[in-house]
Amino acid sequence: MNLFSLKIIALSILSLVTSTANTTTIGVTYNPSATTNNLPTPEQVASTLLSHLHVSSVHLLNPTPAAIRAFSYSNISLLLTIPNDLISSFAANISSATQWVYTYVLPFHPRARISLISLGSDVVSSLPSMLDPTTDPSTLLIPAMRNLQQSLYVLGIRTIPVSTTFSYISIITTTFPPSSAEFQEPINNLLIKPVLQFLDENNSSFLIDIHPFNVYKLRSEIPVGFALFQDIPYNFRDDAITGARYRNLFDMMVDGVIAALANFGHQNIPMIVTQTGWPSAGEDGDGSEVSPAFAQIYLKGLISHLKSGLGTPLRKDGLAEVYVYELFDEASDVINSNRTEMWGILYPNMTKKFSIDFSGSARAFGRGNLGIYGNSLLVDLVLPFLMGIFVSLTL
Ligand SMILES: *[C@@H]1O[C@H](CO)[C@@H](O)[C@H](O)[C@H]1NC(C)=O
Ligand SMILES: *[C@@H]1O[C@H](CO)[C@@H](O)[C@H](O)[C@H]1NC(C)=O
Ligand SMILES: *[C@@H]1O[C@H](CO)[C@@H](O)[C@H](O)[C@H]1NC(C)=O
Ligand SMILES: *[C@@H]1O[C@H](CO)[C@@H](O)[C@H](O)[C@H]1NC(C)=O
Ligand SMILES: *[C@@H]1O[C@H](CO)[C@@H](O)[C@H](O)[C@H]1NC(C)=O
Ligand SMILES: *[C@@H]1O[C@H](CO)[C@@H](O)[C@H](O)[C@H]1NC(C)=O
Ligand SMILES: *[C@@H]1O[C@H](CO)[C@@H](O)[C@H](O)[C@H]1NC(C)=O
Repeated sequence: MNLFSLKIIALSILSLVTSTANTTTIGVTYNPSATTNNLPTPEQVASTLLSHLHVSSVHLLNPTPAAIRAFSYSNISLLLTIPNDLISSFAANISSATQWVYTYVLPFHPRARISLISLGSDVVSSLPSMLDPTTDPSTLLIPAMRNLQQSLYVLGIRTIPVSTTFSYISIITTTFPPSSAEFQEPINNLLIKPVLQFLDENNSSFLIDIHPFNVYKLRSEIPVGFALFQDIPYNFRDDAITGARYRNLFDMMVDGVIAALANFGHQNIPMIVTQTGWPSAGEDGDGSEVSPAFAQIYLKGLISHLKSGLGTPLRKDGLAEVYVYELFDEASDVINSNRTEMWGILYPNMTKKFSIDFSGSARAFGRGNLGIYGNSLLVDLVLPFLMGIFVSLTL
C-alpha cells in the first residue's frame, strides 16, 4: 500500500471520529507594539475587551511586559508570539531564552493566564535562510524552541507549551481539493517534520494563520460568497477523494492543513488558527470587497460557523482556538505583494468599526447576509465556480 492510500484511509477515519468537545475559543489578535497613532494603553484595552467585546482570549503579537501585566488583572488567556528576530539568539544561547522568560513570563505567571508561546511567525517567508534549500532551517528554529521550552521547565513553569506559527499561504501547495494538499518542498521535511515532532513530544499545538481573503485575491475564480461564508444554493465544492462537501473557503483551507499533517501522521494534533480576518480598508485598486461591510460579513460568518460546533469535514470536533485578526489597524504589507491593508476591528478610540459580537450564537446572527449588495453580484460569481473552473487550485 502506498503512502497516498494510507493518507486517504487516515482522512476517512477522521471524518468518522466522534467526540463531544466541539467548542472553539474565539479570541482576538492585538499588537501592543504597533506604531499606529493614538492607540489606547494596554490597560484600557484589557478593560474594554472584557466589558464591551466579551473576548476571553487574546493573541499578543510582539508582546511587551506592560501589556502582559495589564492582562494579568483580567481573566483573559494570552497566546504570546515572540518576534522572529529573537530566534537566532535563542538558538545560539539558552541564556537569552531564559532572560526572555525572566522578563516576560516569570513576573506575571500564573496570574497572567499565558496559554502558549509561539516562537516566531511565518518564519518560512521571513528568514532568508529558511528559503535556501541548501541550508537546514531546523538548525535555527528547533534549537531555539527547545531552549525556550527548557528555560520554562528550569524555572518551574510546566504548563506553558512552546510552538511556532506558520502561514497557510507560505506552506500549503494546493487549495483544492483539500485532501491533496501538502506542505511545500523542501520545508516539509527540513522544517515542518521536526517541528511536528517537537510539538508532539511536548504536548503543544500546531499554529497557523488562515486568511481566505489572501487566497481569494490570488484566485479570481473563487466566488466572494464562498470566501464570506454565504449560504447560497450551489455555493459548494465537493472533494471527490474524501466525498466531503465544502461550503466555505475557511473550512477548505483548514482541511488542507489537516490533510498535509496526515502525511506525517499528525492529523490529530490540536490546531490553533492564530490569525484570520478581512480588511476593511486598503490601497487596493480593484478592491470593492475591501470594506467594513465585507469585513463584518466575514467575521459574522466566521463566528457563527465556529459557534455552530459543526467543525470542518475532516475536523468534526472543531479547532481548539481561533483568533480574529486584528484589534487595531496597523499598516502592514501583505506577503509577496505591495498591497497595504487595514484589518482592525476597532478605531483607536476603541469604538467598533462595524458591529461584531464575540459571544454571538449561530442563531443570533442568522446566516451571513450580503443582501445590501444585491444577489446578482453573487450569482455572477457563483456561475464560473459551478462550471468547474475551480477544479484545480494550485498556489
Ligand atoms: C476565568 O475564565 C475561565 C475560563 O474562561 C472560567 O472558567 C472562570 O470561571 C473565570 N474566572 C473568573 C473569576 O471569572
Ligand atoms: C550567552 O549569553 C549570556 C548572557 O546573555 C552571556 O553572558 C554568555 O557569554 C553567552 N554565552 C555564549 C556562549 O555566547
Ligand atoms: C521537548 O522539550 C524538551 C524540553 O525543552 C526538549 O528537551 C525536547 O527535546 C523537546 N522535544 C523535541 C522533540 O524536541
Ligand atoms: C504530555 O502529556 C502526557 C499525557 O498527559 C504526559 O504524560 C507527558 O508528561 C506530557 N509531556 C510533557 C513534555 O509535558
Ligand atoms: C460535534 O462533533 C461530533 C464529531 O466529533 C459530531 O458528530 C457532532 O455532530 C458535533 N456537534 C454539533 C453540534 O455539530
Ligand atoms: C512591488 O513594488 C516594487 C517597486 O515598486 C516592484 O519592483 C515589485 O515588482 C512590486 N511587487 C509586486 C508583487 O507587485
Ligand atoms: C471614534 O473614531 C471614529 C473614526 O475616527 C469616529 O468616526 C467616531 O465618531 C469616534 N467615536 C467616538 C465616540 O469618539
